[in-house]
Amino acid sequence: MITLIVAMDLNRGIGKSGNLLVHIPGDLPRFKKITTGHTVVMGRKTYESLPNGPLKKRKNIVLTRNKNLEIPGAKVISSIDEIDNPSNEEIFIIGGGEIYNQTINIADKLLITQIDKEFEADTFFPQLNDNWLLSESEKVTDKGDFTFSYNTYLRK
Ligand SMILES: NC(=O)c1ccc[n+]([C@@H]2O[C@H](COP(=O)([O-])OP(=O)(O)OC[C@H]3O[C@@H](n4cnc5c(N)ncnc54)[C@H](OP(=O)(O)O)[C@@H]3O)[C@@H](O)[C@H]2O)c1
Repeated sequence: MITLIVAMDLNRGIGKSGNLLVHIPGDLPRFKKITTGHTVVMGRKTYESLPNGPLKKRKNIVLTRNKNLEIPGAKVISSIDEIDNPSNEEIFIIGGGEIYNQTINIADKLLITQIDKEFEADTFFPQLNDNWLLSESEKVTDKGDFTFSYNTYLRK
């Protein structure tokens, strides 16, 4: 079971200059709750954007083509095929754009925080094709200066 988890804006923007687009009230604690105890897979650039290194209480896997890179507290792999999931648990792909692009076709589930606003972005989530069914949607209208939804898509 492979789940992509992402926050994106109305243009599918997810990042700018190596950082997230905006702070979404409540989204980070939710991300932590959902991913804690599981494996998280990320690209090297997303890893470098983390303020405190590997995410605690999760098995961290970082993708890079640099065979010499070692990261204490994380497993470093050099190809998508090396993502190991022996016991077929739910594993979470947590970004960024390059990694989402290369894994959306093998994903079973998408957890998309859909922000109802446009931001300036240089990194994007791929367009969803007809393979995805919106199975749950929870709109949040009472936090901050924009609304957003927690959307769950399942592969049809
Ligand atoms: N909104 C969200 O939910 C969210 C989530 C995560 C990240 N982001 C944002 O996304 C941006 C980063 O995304 P990005 O697309 O620039 O970078 P990224 O996907 O995080 O990382 C790209 C790097 O991953 C490695 N890589 C990519 N494909 C690979 C493959 N097939 N095999 C081995 N290694 C591979 C390469 O590392 P090397 O160069 O070391 O070889 C590449 O430079 C940031 O702005 C971040 O804040 C947003």
